[in-house]
Formats: sequence, structure tokens, C-alpha cells
Amino acid sequence: MISNELLLTDTNSEFVRVRFEFVVIYFSIPAAPSRLHSTRWSLGTYLYSFNILKRTMGGKNIHVCPVQIAGGLDNRIRKFFQNPEKILKNHIEEGMIVLDLGCGPGFFSVEMAKMVGKSGEVIAVDLQEGMLQILKNKIQGTEIENRIKLHKCQEDIIGISEKVDFVLAFYMFHEVPNQKKFLEEIKSILKPNGNILIVEPKFHVSKQAFEVTIKKAEEIGLIIAEIPKVLLSRAVVLKK
Ligand SMILES: C[S@@+](CC[C@H](N)C(=O)[O-])C[C@H]1O[C@@H](n2cnc3c(N)ncnc32)[C@H](O)[C@@H]1O
Repeated sequence: MISNELLLTDTNSEFVRVRFEFVVIYFSIPAAPSRLHSTRWSLGTYLYSFNILKRTMGGKNIHVCPVQIAGGLDNRIRKFFQNPEKILKNHIEEGMIVLDLGCGPGFFSVEMAKMVGKSGEVIAVDLQEGMLQILKNKIQGTEIENRIKLHKCQEDIIGISEKVDFVLAFYMFHEVPNQKKFLEEIKSILKPNGNILIVEPKFHVSKQAFEVTIKKAEEIGLIIAEIPKVLLSRAVVLKK
């Protein structure tokens, strides 16, 4: 769940303590009695773990999800309640060029690469080199390796020139300091019939904050195409 490399390079004892708690909770879930092993119990535990990890980030860039919790973003439990294929099936077709903004460890990028097929392309963009490295290691030597292009962006500049059919921004928008500027750039690289799916965590982004993001999107000329349901989340599909 957490890479050896990250564990070996980590000297922060608080992180080690919290990770240990996370690992214990994670592995105790399958062993829990069936009465406790309900979806609600598992989700509650997962979110609790995610939050204590976020709280103890200890220092820099506290608005950005740290590389050290990448394992919490890509695992079986999450796939059970946020299945990428189910979430994306109405948006991605074979041959498309799609953008995974704030891809993190690539929980969505990998499924997106399978969905676009051999003729398509996924541009996986992240601010943090460490996240891109995890994704790079994950796809190395697999059949989807050549379908995923990794790109390190800046906080307010995505910096790609390719036009894309679909943009996913999953659990990352609240980490962007200048959302309006970011949305303008997304709009400029989106093909005329393209969709943007923004999903934010309910436990972290209030209804009002999400509405502010949508308002900024409308101010730059994007329109709401759909309000999809994504478990534990607030979501919107935007169009040009
Ligand atoms: C909570 S993680 C979500 C990762 C992934 N989308 C997922 O759902 O598994 C947020 C990610 O967004 C990235 N991020 C934050 N601000 C960003 C920005 N301005 N541009 C690109 N990526 C950003 C972080 O580095 C982190 O990998």
C-alpha cells in the first residue's frame, strides 16, 4: 500500500506513527467480524484514516495532498466505492485524448488508459514529481505504458498544448489556488464537444465552496451539462 522507497526515505516519526495506524486499520478491515464489515464501517474507517494523514502533513504545501498518502488514494477499498470505470463510462470512448488533472498516483489514469484503448491517449498531469513517479513505476512494462503521457505542471499553469476530448479533475480542485485562471486554461484546451468532470470530496469541500467553483466556471462561459452522483462527493459536468 505504501511504497518501500517512501517508507525508507521517511524520517518523520509522526508520519511513521500515523501510517502505522493506517496500515493496522486497513488490514483489520477484511479480518473484522461480518457484522462490523459493512460498507459504512469500512468507508468511515477509510475516511478517518485519510483525514488523520492529511492533518499530520507536518509542514510544506499544506493545501496539496502529500505524496506520502498516495497509497490511501489507490487501493481496493476505494475501488469498491469509487469505481473509475463506472464513474467515467459515460465520458470516455476509444480513441479519445483525455486529461487526468491532478492525477496523483494514477487511480483514474490507469483505467482511463484502458478505456481510450490503443488509439487513444491519457495525459496525466500533476504538480508533484513524486506522484508522477509512482504512476510511472506502476505502468512501466505494461501494455498501457505508451498510452499515458506524464506531465508535471505548475500550481496555476497546466502547460499543455494538445486539445483534449475530456478532462477529469477528481479531488484536486480545492487544492488549486487560482481556480478561475485554471478553468480558463482548461477551457482553452478542451475540444468543442468536450466535457469536464469536476469531483470534490464532501467531507472536505462544503456545498457553498463547490458552488463558488461552479460560479467561477459559469463566469468564464462554461455551462453545467449534468450534476452526476458520485458517492461521498460533489460533482459537476461542464461544457463549453
Ligand atoms: C487528493 S489528490 C487526488 C489524486 C487523484 N485525482 C485521485 O483522485 O486519486 C490531489 C492531487 O492533485 C494534485 N494537485 C494539487 N494542486 C494541483 C495543481 N494546481 N495542478 C495539478 N495538480 C495538482 C496533487 O499533487 C495531488 O496529486
